Amino acid sequence: MSETLTKAAARNIFYGGTAFFFVVFVALTAHSVSTANDIAKANPVTASVAAGKHVWEKNACIDCHTLMGEGAYYAPELGNVWVRFGGREDASGAREALKAWMKGQPSGIEGRRQMPQFNLTETQLNDLVDFLKWTSEVDTQNWPPKVSG
Ligand code: HEC
Repeated sequence: MSETLTKAAARNIFYGGTAFFFVVFVALTAHSVSTANDIAKANPVTASVAAGKHVWEKNACIDCHTLMGEGAYYAPELGNVWVRFGGREDASGAREALKAWMKGQPSGIEGRRQMPQFNLTETQLNDLVDFLKWTSEVDTQNWPPKVSG
């Protein structure tokens, strides 16, 4: 057997490797698409969730907060705020508490970091809460590890 790699062997490795990884790529793509479809079915994006995301983006909440660990570290993580406000036990109570929080800012309490008043309408507040509820239902595999971010 020759010690050097022949042209034919190099070509076979190239074509074989390309074909193999192409098949792997197609299989992983199909897997991602089917997983994404399952997730979308389990936790559908309604019109109000989409509108709430718009409220979130327009008011740049991410400038101070994190969502699923991404964002600024000035204020608490909000991907799980629905759960921390008791949404799993009492959905309407958590909705009212979150809306009251939004309406009650800034708190003016000495020594606490302050959050601005956004003057959101009732519809915007409800959409925002729907978005935060939706976010809390995404399976992030317990990310971020510390609940308050
Ligand atoms: C300028 C920074 C800033 C921006 C922008 C901001 N927040 Fe906050 N937010 C804070 C701070 C600081 C706190 C914690 C205040 C405290 O504990 O007294 C907070 C707390 C909260 C809480 C309660 C969290 C908890 O764990 O108790 C919610 C809900 C919230 N913010 C929602 C929002 C939403 C929604 C937006 C966008 C519309 C937003 N915030 C934009 C600074 C900000």
